Amino acid sequence: MSDALLQVSELTKHFPITSGFFSRPEAWVRAVDNINFEVHQGETLGVVGESGCGKTTLVNVLLNLIEPTAGQVIFDGIDLFGCSKKKLRELRQHLQIVFQDPFWSLNPRWLVKDIIGEPLKVHLDLKPGEFIKRVEELLEMVGLPDDAIYKSPHEFSGGQRQRIAIARALGINPKLLVLDEPTSAIDIFSQAQILELLKDLKKRLNLTYILISHDLSVVHHMSDKIMVMYLGEVVEYGPAEAIFNRPAHPYTKALLSAIPDINTESLDEISELEGNVPSAINPPIGCRFNTRCSEVMAVCMEKKPAVSDIGSGHTASCHLL
Ligand SMILES: Nc1ncnc2c1ncn2[C@@H]1O[C@H](COP(=O)(O)OP(=O)(O)OP(=O)(O)O)[C@@H](O)[C@H]1O
Ligand code: SF4
Ligand SMILES: [Mg+2]
Repeated sequence: MSDALLQVSELTKHFPITSGFFSRPEAWVRAVDNINFEVHQGETLGVVGESGCGKTTLVNVLLNLIEPTAGQVIFDGIDLFGCSKKKLRELRQHLQIVFQDPFWSLNPRWLVKDIIGEPLKVHLDLKPGEFIKRVEELLEMVGLPDDAIYKSPHEFSGGQRQRIAIARALGINPKLLVLDEPTSAIDIFSQAQILELLKDLKKRLNLTYILISHDLSVVHHMSDKIMVMYLGEVVEYGPAEAIFNRPAHPYTKALLSAIPDINTESLDEISELEGNVPSAINPPIGCRFNTRCSEVMAVCMEKKPAVSDIGSGHTASCHLL
């Protein structure tokens, strides 16, 4: 038994492709394929990979918004796909998400009080006075003024709207907060401020994060562990320090070399990432990265690389290892 807060085993999600309403699937989009990882209380796991690699699908399965094709998720000791609906509702309170573009962000009918207050109403039984006090407390926590409470989201900047989304997610004291591209829709200055806020909140509230981004530099200073995804699979996983200083997979090396300000001195070789990600409907046979890898060998076209243990929880899947 693992003492992890979240334990994900062999998680898989394939989307069927059909031409008509009732016809049998003609093909499958292999969005998430056999993924394994753990997140411990107080940790931040950074998940990186290019657009379409399956990050959001992974989150949607974790949050039970879509059904998995296979696999298991244990959250706080409970099997997420095997428990009762009642238990699931209870667990969902402790598993919150901040999206890149929240659905309410452009809806002028919502007021900040309603946005932040909705989860409080669903999960907590607060008196009106306590309710407003809690919303004000949350606004203060994310660095927004009291008078924001009766404004609507379109009166705020992108960075401020993300603060509202964070306040909404924190209202019911979640154990795990999933941040799906929390800064990719806002300007670079606000990005840095939001990341600082998240770091500060994590310390103050002893939170656990899964931080998802297509940009390694965003997760760089935030994460304790990193999971690198490519075309639905995990190619490298381990302590952030090891991934940044001693990346083992050619894909991780290429992602790192695209960060201009990172110290690349310790990398033996850096390679540029060229070409597009192949389709997730017909991913390459063997290693899925073989169409873009600068170190590709004959074996990579035939055989899927096994997961190699590099030590201290650092693993990667490549025939070079
Ligand atoms: N409902 C769906 N039906 C069919 N295919 C889907 C569905 N949702 C996602 N996909 C496909 O699954 C793959 C993974 O998509 P996903 O949105 O999870 O990637 P992502 O890593 O979050 O990308 P981005 O960085 O652009 O947000 C893509 O090929 C996508 O087209
Ligand atoms: S298995 Fe082969 S193609 Fe895949 S990353 Fe390693 S060297 Fe490159
Ligand atoms: Mg996404």
